[in-house]
Amino acid sequence: METRAAILDGVNQQWSVETITLDPPKAGEVLIELVGSGLCHSDEHMVTGDMVMNPETAAELGLEQFPMIGGHEGAGKVLEVGPGVTTLAAGDHVVLGFIPSCGRCPSCATGKQNLCDMGAFLLAGRQITDLTARHHRHDGTDLGIMCCLGTFGEHTVVSEASCIKIEPDIPLDKAALVGCGVTTGWGSATYAADVKSGETVVVIGCGGIGMNAIQGAAMAGAAHVIAVDPIEFKREQAQVFGATHTAASMEEATAMVMDLTWGQMANKAIISVGEGDGKLIAPAMGIIGKGGRVVHTSVAPLEDTEVTMSLFDLTLMQKQLVGSIFGSANPRHDIPRLLKMYQQGQLKLDELVTRTYDLDDINDGYQAMRDGENIRGMVMYNH
Ligand SMILES: NC(=O)c1ccc[n+]([C@@H]2O[C@H](COP(=O)([O-])OP(=O)(O)OC[C@H]3O[C@@H](n4cnc5c(N)ncnc54)[C@H](O)[C@@H]3O)[C@@H](O)[C@H]2O)c1
Ligand SMILES: [Zn+2]
Ligand SMILES: [Zn+2]
Repeated sequence: METRAAILDGVNQQWSVETITLDPPKAGEVLIELVGSGLCHSDEHMVTGDMVMNPETAAELGLEQFPMIGGHEGAGKVLEVGPGVTTLAAGDHVVLGFIPSCGRCPSCATGKQNLCDMGAFLLAGRQITDLTARHHRHDGTDLGIMCCLGTFGEHTVVSEASCIKIEPDIPLDKAALVGCGVTTGWGSATYAADVKSGETVVVIGCGGIGMNAIQGAAMAGAAHVIAVDPIEFKREQAQVFGATHTAASMEEATAMVMDLTWGQMANKAIISVGEGDGKLIAPAMGIIGKGGRVVHTSVAPLEDTEVTMSLFDLTLMQKQLVGSIFGSANPRHDIPRLLKMYQQGQLKLDELVTRTYDLDDINDGYQAMRDGENIRGMVMYNH
Protein backbone atom coordinates (compact mmCIF):
# COMPACT_ATOMS: atom_id res chain seq x y z
CA MET A 1 0.00 0.00 0.00
CA GLU A 2 0.95 3.66 -0.21
CA THR A 3 1.02 5.92 2.83
CA ARG A 4 2.73 9.13 3.97
CA ALA A 5 5.62 9.44 6.41
CA ALA A 6 8.27 11.89 7.66
CA ILE A 7 11.77 10.80 6.68
CA LEU A 8 15.15 11.97 7.97
CA ASP A 9 18.04 11.64 5.50
CA GLY A 10 20.87 12.52 7.86
CA VAL A 11 22.16 14.70 10.68
CA ASN A 12 21.04 18.36 10.69
CA GLN A 13 18.40 17.78 8.00
CA GLN A 14 14.73 18.70 8.07
CA TRP A 15 12.05 15.97 8.19
CA SER A 16 10.81 15.31 4.64
CA VAL A 17 7.16 14.24 4.28
CA GLU A 18 6.76 11.82 1.38
CA THR A 19 4.47 9.15 -0.02
CA ILE A 20 6.05 5.78 0.68
CA THR A 21 5.35 2.15 -0.11
CA LEU A 22 4.50 -0.13 2.80
CA ASP A 23 4.69 -3.93 2.36
CA PRO A 24 2.06 -6.15 3.97
CA PRO A 25 2.93 -7.60 7.38
CA LYS A 26 5.09 -10.74 7.28
CA ALA A 27 5.14 -13.48 9.93
CA GLY A 28 4.78 -12.05 13.45
CA GLU A 29 3.99 -8.53 12.16
CA VAL A 30 1.01 -6.21 12.21
CA LEU A 31 -0.21 -3.38 9.94
CA ILE A 32 -1.36 -0.39 11.98
CA GLU A 33 -3.36 2.70 11.04
CA LEU A 34 -1.93 5.33 13.38
CA VAL A 35 -4.00 8.13 14.89
CA GLY A 36 -0.99 10.39 15.45
CA SER A 37 2.38 10.60 17.18
CA GLY A 38 3.93 12.57 20.00
CA LEU A 39 7.01 14.63 19.15
CA CYS A 40 9.46 13.30 21.74
CA HIS A 41 12.93 14.75 22.18
CA SER A 42 14.50 11.36 21.44
CA ASP A 43 13.86 11.74 17.66
CA GLU A 44 15.63 15.09 17.90
CA HIS A 45 18.78 13.18 18.96
CA MET A 46 18.79 11.65 15.45
CA VAL A 47 18.62 15.16 13.95
CA THR A 48 21.44 16.54 16.12
CA GLY A 49 23.49 13.35 15.67
CA ASP A 50 23.57 12.58 19.43
CA MET A 51 22.13 9.14 18.78
CA VAL A 52 23.94 8.46 15.52
CA MET A 53 26.77 5.92 15.59
CA ASN A 54 30.13 6.69 14.09
CA PRO A 55 30.40 5.14 10.60
CA GLU A 56 32.93 2.44 11.66
CA THR A 57 30.72 1.14 14.51
CA ALA A 58 27.66 1.20 12.25
CA ALA A 59 29.52 -0.70 9.51
CA GLU A 60 30.76 -3.27 12.04
CA LEU A 61 27.17 -3.86 13.18
CA GLY A 62 25.90 -3.81 9.58
CA LEU A 63 23.54 -0.90 10.36
CA GLU A 64 22.44 1.98 8.18
CA GLN A 65 20.67 4.55 10.36
CA PHE A 66 19.53 6.78 7.44
CA PRO A 67 17.21 7.35 5.69
CA MET A 68 14.72 6.64 8.46
CA ILE A 69 11.11 7.30 9.42
CA GLY A 70 11.04 8.87 12.88
CA GLY A 71 8.55 8.60 15.70
CA HIS A 72 8.09 6.20 18.60
CA GLU A 73 5.09 7.59 20.56
CA GLY A 74 2.00 6.38 18.73
CA ALA A 75 -1.23 4.43 18.92
CA GLY A 76 -3.75 3.18 16.39
CA LYS A 77 -5.91 0.40 15.03
CA VAL A 78 -4.78 -2.97 13.71
CA LEU A 79 -5.77 -3.26 10.03
CA GLU A 80 -4.19 -6.62 9.23
CA VAL A 81 -2.08 -9.26 10.97
CA GLY A 82 0.64 -11.38 9.39
CA PRO A 83 0.94 -15.16 9.60
CA GLY A 84 1.39 -16.57 13.11
CA VAL A 85 0.11 -13.50 14.98
CA THR A 86 -2.02 -14.87 17.79
CA THR A 87 -2.51 -12.02 20.29
CA LEU A 88 -4.02 -9.41 17.95
CA ALA A 89 -6.73 -9.24 15.29
CA ALA A 90 -7.93 -6.62 12.79
CA GLY A 91 -9.87 -3.88 14.62
CA ASP A 92 -7.92 -4.09 17.87
CA HIS A 93 -6.68 -0.82 19.39
CA VAL A 94 -3.02 -0.73 20.35
CA VAL A 95 -0.42 1.52 21.91
CA LEU A 96 2.99 1.06 20.32
CA GLY A 97 5.57 0.60 23.06
CA PHE A 98 8.92 2.09 22.14
CA ILE A 99 10.51 -0.97 23.74
CA PRO A 100 9.35 -4.29 22.34
CA SER A 101 8.62 -6.97 24.92
CA CYS A 102 8.94 -10.60 23.89
CA GLY A 103 7.68 -12.06 27.17
CA ARG A 104 10.28 -14.83 27.16
CA CYS A 105 13.77 -13.38 27.63
CA PRO A 106 15.35 -13.28 31.12
CA SER A 107 14.37 -9.60 31.60
CA CYS A 108 10.74 -10.08 30.51
CA ALA A 109 10.48 -13.26 32.55
CA THR A 110 11.58 -11.44 35.70
CA GLY A 111 9.29 -8.41 35.41
CA LYS A 112 11.73 -6.05 33.70
CA GLN A 113 10.11 -5.80 30.29
CA ASN A 114 11.74 -2.41 29.72
CA LEU A 115 15.04 -4.31 29.46
CA CYS A 116 13.72 -6.91 26.96
CA ASP A 117 16.50 -8.46 24.89
CA MET A 118 14.65 -7.27 21.79
CA GLY A 119 15.78 -3.77 22.81
CA ALA A 120 19.00 -4.70 21.00
CA PHE A 121 17.12 -3.84 17.77
CA LEU A 122 16.03 -0.31 18.83
CA LEU A 123 18.56 1.42 16.58
CA ALA A 124 18.60 -1.28 13.89
CA GLY A 125 15.87 0.48 11.91
CA ARG A 126 14.54 -2.78 10.48
CA GLN A 127 11.81 -5.26 11.45
CA ILE A 128 12.69 -7.23 14.59
CA THR A 129 11.28 -10.35 12.97
CA ASP A 130 13.85 -10.76 10.16
CA LEU A 131 15.90 -7.52 10.04
CA THR A 132 14.53 -6.49 6.64
CA ALA A 133 12.49 -3.38 5.74
CA ARG A 134 8.72 -3.10 5.05
CA HIS A 135 8.96 0.66 4.45
CA HIS A 136 10.38 1.88 1.13
CA ARG A 137 10.87 5.22 -0.60
CA HIS A 138 9.26 5.69 -4.01
CA ASP A 139 12.64 4.95 -5.66
CA GLY A 140 12.74 1.59 -3.84
CA THR A 141 15.29 2.57 -1.14
CA ASP A 142 14.68 0.76 2.16
CA LEU A 143 13.64 3.06 5.00
CA GLY A 144 14.61 2.59 8.63
CA ILE A 145 12.08 3.03 11.44
CA MET A 146 12.76 4.69 14.81
CA CYS A 147 12.61 2.28 17.79
CA CYS A 148 11.20 -0.50 15.56
CA LEU A 149 8.05 1.68 15.09
CA GLY A 150 8.25 4.72 12.76
CA THR A 151 5.14 6.48 14.11
CA PHE A 152 5.74 9.60 11.96
CA GLY A 153 3.65 7.89 9.30
CA GLU A 154 -0.06 7.42 8.74
CA HIS A 155 0.45 3.65 8.72
CA THR A 156 3.25 1.37 9.82
CA VAL A 157 4.15 -2.30 10.04
CA VAL A 158 5.65 -3.44 13.36
CA SER A 159 6.33 -6.62 15.28
CA GLU A 160 3.56 -8.03 17.48
CA ALA A 161 6.08 -7.59 20.33
CA SER A 162 5.78 -3.77 20.02
CA CYS A 163 1.97 -3.73 20.36
CA ILE A 164 0.07 -3.36 23.62
CA LYS A 165 -3.64 -4.00 23.17
CA ILE A 166 -5.90 -1.51 24.97
CA GLU A 167 -9.63 -1.10 25.55
CA PRO A 168 -11.46 0.41 22.54
CA ASP A 169 -13.11 3.19 24.57
CA ILE A 170 -9.81 4.92 25.38
CA PRO A 171 -9.12 7.88 23.07
CA LEU A 172 -6.21 6.80 20.87
CA ASP A 173 -4.65 10.26 20.68
CA LYS A 174 -4.24 10.28 24.46
CA ALA A 175 -3.13 6.65 24.53
CA ALA A 176 -0.29 7.47 22.09
CA LEU A 177 1.48 9.57 24.73
CA VAL A 178 1.72 6.59 27.03
CA GLY A 179 3.86 4.75 24.46
CA CYS A 180 6.87 6.82 25.58
CA GLY A 181 6.72 10.14 27.44
CA VAL A 182 4.07 9.47 30.09
CA THR A 183 5.32 6.06 31.17
CA THR A 184 8.96 7.16 31.02
CA GLY A 185 8.42 10.22 33.20
CA TRP A 186 5.88 8.70 35.60
CA GLY A 187 7.98 5.54 36.04
CA SER A 188 11.18 7.57 36.53
CA ALA A 189 9.52 8.91 39.68
CA THR A 190 7.48 5.95 40.89
CA TYR A 191 9.78 3.04 39.94
CA ALA A 192 13.30 4.30 39.27
CA ALA A 193 13.33 6.95 42.02
CA ASP A 194 10.88 4.93 44.15
CA VAL A 195 9.38 8.13 45.56
CA LYS A 196 7.71 7.62 48.95
CA SER A 197 5.14 9.80 50.68
CA GLY A 198 6.59 12.81 52.44
CA GLU A 199 9.76 12.91 50.33
CA THR A 200 11.33 15.91 48.65
CA VAL A 201 11.81 15.37 44.91
CA VAL A 202 13.57 17.60 42.38
CA VAL A 203 12.73 17.24 38.66
CA ILE A 204 15.35 18.84 36.41
CA GLY A 205 13.97 19.62 32.93
CA CYS A 206 10.19 19.94 32.54
CA GLY A 207 9.25 18.83 29.02
CA GLY A 208 7.12 15.86 28.01
CA ILE A 209 9.15 13.54 30.24
CA GLY A 210 9.71 15.86 33.20
CA MET A 211 6.02 16.85 33.53
CA ASN A 212 5.17 13.17 33.93
CA ALA A 213 7.94 12.68 36.47
CA ILE A 214 6.34 15.57 38.37
CA GLN A 215 2.87 13.99 38.25
CA GLY A 216 4.36 10.61 39.21
CA ALA A 217 6.17 12.12 42.22
CA ALA A 218 3.05 14.03 43.31
CA MET A 219 0.90 10.90 42.94
CA ALA A 220 3.38 8.89 45.03
CA GLY A 221 2.84 11.40 47.83
CA ALA A 222 5.96 13.57 47.73
CA ALA A 223 5.69 16.46 50.18
CA HIS A 224 7.73 18.80 47.97
CA VAL A 225 8.14 18.55 44.21
CA ILE A 226 10.59 21.15 42.93
CA ALA A 227 10.44 21.68 39.15
CA VAL A 228 13.61 23.13 37.60
CA ASP A 229 13.50 24.64 34.11
CA PRO A 230 14.93 27.87 32.68
CA ILE A 231 11.70 28.50 30.71
CA GLU A 232 8.93 30.31 32.58
CA PHE A 233 6.09 28.64 30.63
CA LYS A 234 7.42 25.22 31.70
CA ARG A 235 7.63 26.30 35.33
CA GLU A 236 4.02 27.56 35.21
CA GLN A 237 2.79 24.32 33.63
CA ALA A 238 4.76 22.23 36.14
CA GLN A 239 2.37 23.43 38.84
CA VAL A 240 -0.58 22.03 36.88
CA PHE A 241 1.06 18.58 37.13
CA GLY A 242 1.76 18.83 40.84
CA ALA A 243 4.97 20.83 41.37
CA THR A 244 4.86 22.57 44.74
CA HIS A 245 7.84 24.84 43.97
CA THR A 246 9.72 25.94 40.85
CA ALA A 247 13.22 27.21 40.15
CA ALA A 248 14.90 28.59 37.03
CA SER A 249 18.34 27.13 37.81
CA MET A 250 20.03 24.50 39.95
CA GLU A 251 21.57 27.23 42.12
CA GLU A 252 18.11 28.61 42.88
CA ALA A 253 16.73 25.09 43.44
CA THR A 254 19.59 24.12 45.77
CA ALA A 255 19.00 27.12 48.03
CA MET A 256 15.26 26.40 48.01
CA VAL A 257 15.71 22.71 48.91
CA MET A 258 18.16 23.63 51.68
CA ASP A 259 15.49 25.88 53.17
CA LEU A 260 12.51 23.53 52.62
CA THR A 261 14.25 20.51 54.17
CA TRP A 262 16.01 22.34 57.04
CA GLY A 263 19.34 21.39 55.47
CA GLN A 264 18.62 17.69 54.95
CA MET A 265 18.35 18.16 51.17
CA ALA A 266 16.20 16.20 48.70
CA ASN A 267 15.53 12.46 48.82
CA LYS A 268 15.37 12.07 45.05
CA ALA A 269 16.30 14.03 41.90
CA ILE A 270 15.30 13.12 38.34
CA ILE A 271 17.25 14.46 35.37
CA SER A 272 14.96 14.87 32.35
CA VAL A 273 16.56 17.77 30.43
CA GLY A 274 16.43 17.65 26.62
CA GLU A 275 20.07 16.66 26.16
CA GLY A 276 21.91 14.73 28.87
CA ASP A 277 25.12 16.44 29.96
CA GLY A 278 27.81 15.15 32.33
CA LYS A 279 28.04 18.63 33.86
CA LEU A 280 24.55 18.24 35.34
CA ILE A 281 25.52 15.25 37.49
CA ALA A 282 27.48 17.10 40.18
CA PRO A 283 24.72 19.67 40.91
CA ALA A 284 22.09 16.90 40.90
CA MET A 285 24.16 14.77 43.31
CA GLY A 286 24.61 17.91 45.42
CA ILE A 287 20.88 18.61 45.73
CA ILE A 288 20.15 15.20 47.32
CA GLY A 289 21.01 14.39 50.91
CA LYS A 290 22.35 11.32 52.70
CA GLY A 291 21.05 8.07 51.19
CA GLY A 292 19.45 10.00 48.32
CA ARG A 293 19.10 8.91 44.71
CA VAL A 294 19.56 10.63 41.35
CA VAL A 295 17.76 9.09 38.36
CA HIS A 296 19.19 9.86 34.93
CA THR A 297 16.43 9.62 32.32
CA SER A 298 17.77 12.09 29.71
CA VAL A 299 19.55 10.69 26.68
CA ALA A 300 23.09 12.08 26.33
CA PRO A 301 25.19 12.05 23.13
CA LEU A 302 26.26 8.46 22.37
CA GLU A 303 29.97 9.25 22.32
CA ASP A 304 30.05 11.38 25.53
CA THR A 305 31.85 9.75 28.46
CA GLU A 306 32.80 12.75 30.65
CA VAL A 307 31.22 13.09 34.09
CA THR A 308 32.62 14.99 37.04
CA MET A 309 31.31 14.18 40.50
CA SER A 310 32.59 13.70 44.03
CA LEU A 311 33.19 10.00 44.68
CA PHE A 312 34.00 10.90 48.30
CA ASP A 313 30.47 12.30 48.69
CA LEU A 314 29.00 9.27 46.83
CA THR A 315 30.56 6.84 49.32
CA LEU A 316 30.33 8.69 52.60
CA MET A 317 26.81 10.02 52.03
CA GLN A 318 25.81 6.63 50.59
CA LYS A 319 24.19 8.21 47.53
CA GLN A 320 22.95 6.48 44.38
CA LEU A 321 23.09 7.48 40.71
CA VAL A 322 20.94 5.24 38.47
CA GLY A 323 19.86 5.24 34.84
CA SER A 324 16.34 4.44 33.71
CA ILE A 325 14.85 3.43 30.36
CA PHE A 326 11.08 3.61 29.82
CA GLY A 327 10.74 4.66 33.45
CA SER A 328 11.83 1.14 34.51
CA ALA A 329 8.22 0.18 33.77
CA ASN A 330 6.68 -2.99 32.31
CA PRO A 331 4.90 -1.89 29.11
CA ARG A 332 2.33 -4.71 29.15
CA HIS A 333 1.38 -3.98 32.75
CA ASP A 334 1.92 -0.24 33.06
CA ILE A 335 0.47 1.08 29.78
CA PRO A 336 -3.04 -0.31 30.45
CA ARG A 337 -2.66 0.66 34.13
CA LEU A 338 -1.83 4.30 33.34
CA LEU A 339 -4.72 4.49 30.86
CA LYS A 340 -7.08 3.21 33.53
CA MET A 341 -5.80 5.94 35.84
CA TYR A 342 -6.51 8.49 33.07
CA GLN A 343 -10.07 7.18 32.69
CA GLN A 344 -10.55 7.52 36.46
CA GLY A 345 -9.35 11.11 36.37
CA GLN A 346 -6.16 10.42 38.32
CA LEU A 347 -3.60 10.85 35.54
CA LYS A 348 -3.40 14.01 33.43
CA LEU A 349 -3.00 13.41 29.69
CA ASP A 350 -5.15 16.12 28.08
CA GLU A 351 -3.00 18.86 29.60
CA LEU A 352 0.22 17.47 28.08
CA VAL A 353 -0.42 18.36 24.45
CA THR A 354 0.19 22.06 23.89
CA ARG A 355 -0.35 21.97 20.10
CA THR A 356 -1.18 19.51 17.33
CA TYR A 357 0.22 19.64 13.79
CA ASP A 358 -0.50 18.11 10.40
CA LEU A 359 2.23 15.69 9.34
CA ASP A 360 3.31 18.25 6.70
CA ASP A 361 4.11 20.71 9.50
CA ILE A 362 6.21 18.35 11.61
CA ASN A 363 9.28 20.60 11.31
CA ASP A 364 7.28 23.46 12.90
CA GLY A 365 6.45 21.11 15.79
CA TYR A 366 10.12 20.33 16.38
CA GLN A 367 11.07 24.01 16.10
CA ALA A 368 8.49 24.77 18.83
CA MET A 369 10.09 22.07 21.01
CA ARG A 370 13.55 23.65 20.52
CA ASP A 371 12.06 27.05 21.36
CA GLY A 372 10.50 25.65 24.55
CA GLU A 373 6.92 26.45 23.44
CA ASN A 374 5.39 22.99 23.83
CA ILE A 375 5.04 20.57 26.72
CA ARG A 376 4.30 17.98 24.02
CA GLY A 377 3.63 18.69 20.35
CA MET A 378 1.76 16.02 18.44
CA VAL A 379 1.25 15.24 14.76
CA MET A 380 -2.28 14.03 13.98
CA TYR A 381 -3.30 12.04 10.90
CA ASN A 382 -6.61 12.51 9.08
CA HIS A 383 -7.91 9.14 7.95
N1 LIG B 1 15.24 7.10 29.28
C1 LIG B 1 14.21 6.96 28.46
O1 LIG B 1 13.62 5.90 28.34
C2 LIG B 1 13.75 8.14 27.66
C3 LIG B 1 12.53 8.09 26.97
C4 LIG B 1 12.11 9.23 26.32
C5 LIG B 1 12.87 10.37 26.30
N2 LIG B 1 14.07 10.37 26.94
C6 LIG B 1 14.92 11.56 26.99
O2 LIG B 1 14.43 12.44 27.99
C7 LIG B 1 14.87 13.77 27.68
C8 LIG B 1 13.69 14.72 27.78
O3 LIG B 1 12.81 14.49 26.71
P1 LIG B 1 11.56 15.47 26.46
O4 LIG B 1 10.80 14.91 25.30
O5 LIG B 1 10.87 15.73 27.72
O6 LIG B 1 12.33 16.80 26.00
P2 LIG B 1 11.78 18.31 25.93
O7 LIG B 1 12.64 19.01 24.95
O8 LIG B 1 10.30 18.30 25.74
O9 LIG B 1 12.04 18.89 27.40
C9 LIG B 1 13.30 19.16 27.91
C10 LIG B 1 13.18 20.27 28.95
O10 LIG B 1 14.45 20.45 29.59
C11 LIG B 1 14.64 21.82 29.83
N3 LIG B 1 16.08 22.05 30.06
C12 LIG B 1 17.07 22.06 29.14
N4 LIG B 1 18.26 22.27 29.75
C13 LIG B 1 18.00 22.39 31.08
C14 LIG B 1 18.82 22.59 32.24
N5 LIG B 1 20.13 22.71 32.14
N6 LIG B 1 18.21 22.65 33.46
C15 LIG B 1 16.86 22.51 33.58
N7 LIG B 1 16.05 22.31 32.51
C16 LIG B 1 16.61 22.25 31.28
C17 LIG B 1 14.04 22.49 28.59
O11 LIG B 1 13.73 23.86 28.83
C18 LIG B 1 12.80 21.63 28.36
O12 LIG B 1 11.67 22.15 29.04
C19 LIG B 1 15.50 13.67 26.31
O13 LIG B 1 16.90 13.54 26.44
C20 LIG B 1 14.92 12.41 25.74
O14 LIG B 1 15.70 11.82 24.73
C21 LIG B 1 14.51 9.29 27.64
ZN1 LIG C 1 10.39 9.16 23.52
ZN1 LIG D 1 11.91 -9.94 26.37
